[in-house]
Amino acid sequence: MLTKNSIIKLPGTLVLQARSPIPLYLLEKNQYPKWHKAQNKAAQNWLRASGLEAGSKSFLAIPGANGAIDRVVALYEKKPTPWQLADLPKNLAGGVYAIANEKDFTSRQLQDLCLGWALGQYQFSRYKKPSQAVNAAKLLCPSGVDTAHIASAASATFLVRDLINTPANDMGPDGLEQAARKLADACKASIKVIAGNDLLKKNYPLIHAVGRAAAEPPRLIDIEWGNPKYKRVTLVGKGVCFDTGGLDIKSADGMLLMKKDMGGAAHVLGLAQMIIAARLKLRLRVLIPAVENSISSNAFRPSDIIRARKGITVEIGNTDAEGRLVLADALTEACAQNPDLLIDCATLTGAARVALGTDLPALFCNDDKIAEELQKESIICADPLWRMPLWEGYRPMLDSKAADINNAPAGGYGGAITAALFLKEFIDPKVPWAHIDMMAWNIAAKPGRPQGGEAMGMRALFSLLQNRYGHA
Ligand code: BES
Ligand code: ZN
Ligand code: ZN
Repeated sequence: MLTKNSIIKLPGTLVLQARSPIPLYLLEKNQYPKWHKAQNKAAQNWLRASGLEAGSKSFLAIPGANGAIDRVVALYEKKPTPWQLADLPKNLAGGVYAIANEKDFTSRQLQDLCLGWALGQYQFSRYKKPSQAVNAAKLLCPSGVDTAHIASAASATFLVRDLINTPANDMGPDGLEQAARKLADACKASIKVIAGNDLLKKNYPLIHAVGRAAAEPPRLIDIEWGNPKYKRVTLVGKGVCFDTGGLDIKSADGMLLMKKDMGGAAHVLGLAQMIIAARLKLRLRVLIPAVENSISSNAFRPSDIIRARKGITVEIGNTDAEGRLVLADALTEACAQNPDLLIDCATLTGAARVALGTDLPALFCNDDKIAEELQKESIICADPLWRMPLWEGYRPMLDSKAADINNAPAGGYGGAITAALFLKEFIDPKVPWAHIDMMAWNIAAKPGRPQGGEAMGMRALFSLLQNRYGHA
């Protein structure tokens, strides 16, 4: 809902009204010759001379008699995706633009174009002033598009990016808790935090073990929202605010990006914001184990054996496989309430990136219907996920001689699968569960997706939830 006091605002690059916006013609390449013929002679010559037709440019501003921009034409290859024109605003002069040939698009396409326009102009400005050009080129939202959804998706994406981009000195367990409190307060949700030794008293031994060596105590953040008469949906996010690898320390290269290891937590906060903004008919719980995987004299060690909340013993094969440990206790707690759907998001394994690359989060799911629907929505939303198997044949790789299970199989083959199988040990088989192993980071900028922290799969997850819980 777009209300005045709402935390959900339309991004500054989109406007709802404008006096005399500059017409923007978005043409599929084969529409161009006809359109070109309809322009005046001066414009035709300018277009011909400029290289647009030769394909060396994808857009061109056309001056009017006084030299000011009169209209803009941009060409795209096939069906427009949200990203196809997302680089346009960065390259256009300041002003308000309006899509002149709206009728060529469905309202869903127009909505996606608006979203891409906004998402591409994100800048992380907490520590450095953004360049002046930012937010200069604005787009008039065509009438009939769902501006509330655009605002919600953009605002949640910006939140996820900001949380991930903020370095661990300001986004440690304390900072992540503050961010969760800010969201809960703004959304009128309730929030509870169990921290430090209380984690042992309340039986979250794995969260405590992973986080106890850090200066900022480990904690479990627990947010609740919604009418108790609705079905429960629980989101769990890996909140490792920095992952040194612990005593099985990472290499410098491997550690460099590890401020993003709370990316799963950022995703569930962003998704919660979208759910609440749309007032989906569900009862929401968000669980975030927030820790820093640090090194100190009291750090947990390789070969330690810890009894998990679930009651089973876990041998630590590698302290760098910490995400699955903190998630294990949180997932045990989530299942105790028998949710209608349980989703976890985590930057869990490097192996998932080897399997699918950086842009495709891996989806693991114990329910084929949910997996198929989510996969389908992810393609519609241009927010892709790819399913991987919970292949039981690899379960023996997690066997331990001294404990019920080992957290890190030797060798590492099928590492994303064995990590998912580890989590599955803590899931009640009756609970429908989706696990998303994601990069949460753009290693290079792409249209609409600046380099740095990124929301991956969040809009797809929201669509799934909207399908299932959007109506009473
Ligand atoms: N946070 C990492 C996983 C990661 C690394 C995600 C790089 C995205 C990019 C995780 O805690 C980790 O270190 N996992 C290990 C597990 C191994 C020790 C069994 C991995 O994937 O190598
Ligand atoms: Zn790790
Ligand atoms: Zn990690």
